[in-house]
Amino acid sequence: MDFYSIRRPLVLILVCALANGGYAQDTLVPAIISFGDSAVDVGNNNYRATLFKANYPPYGRDFTNHEATGRFCNGKLATDFTAETLGFKKYPAAYLSSEASGKNLLIGANFASAAAGYDEKASVLNHAIPLSEQLELFKEYKTKLAKVAGQKKADSIIKDALYLLGAGSGDFVQNYYINPLVNKVYTVDQYSNFLVSSFTSFIQNLYGAGARKIGVTSLPPLGCLPEVITLFGHHEKGCVTRINSDAQSFNKKLNAAAASILKQHSDLRLVIFDIFKPLYDVIKSPSQYGFVETRRGCCGTGTVELTTVLCNPHTPGTCSNATQYVFFDAVHPTDAANRIIADELIVQGLSLI
Ligand SMILES: *[C@@H]1O[C@H](CO)[C@@H](O)[C@H](O)[C@H]1NC(C)=O
Repeated sequence: MDFYSIRRPLVLILVCALANGGYAQDTLVPAIISFGDSAVDVGNNNYRATLFKANYPPYGRDFTNHEATGRFCNGKLATDFTAETLGFKKYPAAYLSSEASGKNLLIGANFASAAAGYDEKASVLNHAIPLSEQLELFKEYKTKLAKVAGQKKADSIIKDALYLLGAGSGDFVQNYYINPLVNKVYTVDQYSNFLVSSFTSFIQNLYGAGARKIGVTSLPPLGCLPEVITLFGHHEKGCVTRINSDAQSFNKKLNAAAASILKQHSDLRLVIFDIFKPLYDVIKSPSQYGFVETRRGCCGTGTVELTTVLCNPHTPGTCSNATQYVFFDAVHPTDAANRIIADELIVQGLSLI
């Protein structure tokens, strides 16, 4: 039995114990409301005029009904697993889809948009939904929710909901490192400070809009993404050390900013999920977790599917079974890897539920 198969039941037992601890309802939080980029987008970009879409195969080929929903994955996102673990039978709908209406709104909604990020200008250039606009859509959602649930119930859903934010990877991988207009002007440190200040104002505004339990993912080991290894890893084996240490220093700043926000609001719970370490552990010791391939994604060459348009039904060489791959395309983890990240989110986020 490997580490992973021992670990998963432990997480479930932990959550079941919590679930029996006095909650009458069958989900541990009333709703899940998500913001961010392609790590979290469940199909909002299908409704935008942007290149950054995943609503065609092979995306979704291991999802329910093999449907390409717009998730940048062969199967489920980490946040899908999180929703399941918390007792949800359905996933909160992509807010721009027609499913985000009526009673479906009661379990939350997803506002995330692939190629969005903390850098608002880059999000606009990518025709993604910038975080500021995601927040405006959330405010519109609150009004709709009040119509469906009544004001009092809506207020309690908004207060007790779990809010998730996953962003930042695209700011570095699809913007900073490849865009000389940015990386010749700002040092990594300066750009990180800029992104973290955008994070702070987003969280403050989200708090202002009623959120009280917020979980935010850190940056993963960006230097281990197949695309980053292909573009920047010529002279070293394994991951790109410089870029991993950039990610770690960003994560430190993110944690410091969160600590300072927490000092201002005694009724806020805010957790930064460390996804760097768990993903790095998997990449360093893949066989312990049942993986074989860590350096290239399953789809196509799996090396520089830069804008993701290169991972499509006509891409030759796509692997037949992604279960032993850590990455599905050159940037995004597989269903199997997301499951491991999700277990970490639950363990680290217990104080939120
Ligand atoms: C993929 O491989 C795993 C074992 O490595 C197996 O359990 C699973 O059924 C395979 N899936 C498909 C679709 O062939």
